[in-house]
Amino acid sequence: MPVTMSILITGGAGYIGSHTARLLHEQGREVVILDTLEYGHRTAVGDLPLVVGDVANDALVRDTCARFGVDAVVHFAAYKFVGESMEQPERYWANNVAGSIALLRSLRAAGVERLVFSSSCSVYGTPESVPVREGAAIRPESVYAETKAMVERVLRWETELTDFRGVSLRYFNASGAHPDGAIGEVWDRAQNLIPLVMKAALGRSAPLQVRGDDYPTRDGTGVRDYVHVCDLAAAHAAALDRLAEGELPPAVNIGTGTGYSVLEVLAAAERVAGREIPHEFAPRRPGDIAAVWGDTSLSVKALRWRATRSLDDIVATAWQWHVGHPDGYDG
Ligand SMILES: NC(=O)c1ccc[n+]([C@@H]2O[C@H](COP(=O)([O-])OP(=O)(O)OC[C@H]3O[C@@H](n4cnc5c(N)ncnc54)[C@H](O)[C@@H]3O)[C@@H](O)[C@H]2O)c1
Repeated sequence: MPVTMSILITGGAGYIGSHTARLLHEQGREVVILDTLEYGHRTAVGDLPLVVGDVANDALVRDTCARFGVDAVVHFAAYKFVGESMEQPERYWANNVAGSIALLRSLRAAGVERLVFSSSCSVYGTPESVPVREGAAIRPESVYAETKAMVERVLRWETELTDFRGVSLRYFNASGAHPDGAIGEVWDRAQNLIPLVMKAALGRSAPLQVRGDDYPTRDGTGVRDYVHVCDLAAAHAAALDRLAEGELPPAVNIGTGTGYSVLEVLAAAERVAGREIPHEFAPRRPGDIAAVWGDTSLSVKALRWRATRSLDDIVATAWQWHVGHPDGYDG
């Protein structure tokens, strides 16, 4: 029997997973990462133990759990692009849904009964009101969002019917980078605003397209809840602690409770970069909603967690990372 217990982090070589792995390790926890490296990066993992493979590989998952004495899991591994999910839905059903179900089965066979799942605020679709609460209707508007909603439901049943304890964390817009500048978001496939702003600021792309300036928001541009990736990492640590103590509500929002518009993000980035960032206005992107940010009461009450980093922290750390790694980990 292994003497120490450890946390299995699927997708831990990716953006959010690598920040979480690092924090959990710094907190003195044993961790082991399982990642195909399809989109993850070995460098992002540093010296932490990495098993290269798929969450759907039953023998590998069971063996990893036994070898490392895994007693809880943070399950990040998934594909994450909304547009791509509409073009290649089968890939998303297979990896995000079937992969998660296979993982659950292997974990249960290995006797591992606690799991924190990476869900997304996209499960709400277009919410009827903001800030959006966890009890709002679940109305996915993409295959990607539907995969998250489906796994949430599987986890909820599993928790209800067995000794399994799971929680789904519904992230708002993960952004920023580690303050030491060593890990961050690779922007080659990124579609989120902050890496796109950084690309434009560093002359690595055409001017930023501000898609829509006629929304019913304070300056006409879309409003989103940007949560620093290190705050997200801390939310996972809190969720693991609370799960060890007992049950949690099935799903919890992980946001800041504040929304910022595209132009506000742009202005913050211009302050940090000390330069004007080339941008132009373009028509709305089909399917984009005007404004969404999360109600944070449940995360404060149930997880005893709240975001502590500001929009300025987000853009400052993102800027530092992208200036230092314009070609990602390979640069
Ligand atoms: N980035 C965001 O703003 C955001 C918002 C809401 C939810 N999420 C969710 O959070 C999770 C992590 O997102 P991220 O931004 O770090 O993405 P990412 O692509 O950087 O990381 C995902 C990692 O999972 C790995 N992976 C994918 N399928 C795998 C499989 N079958 N087996 C093993 N490894 C596999 C990839 O190689 C990658 O390293 C995802 O589930 C995503 O849907 C992200």
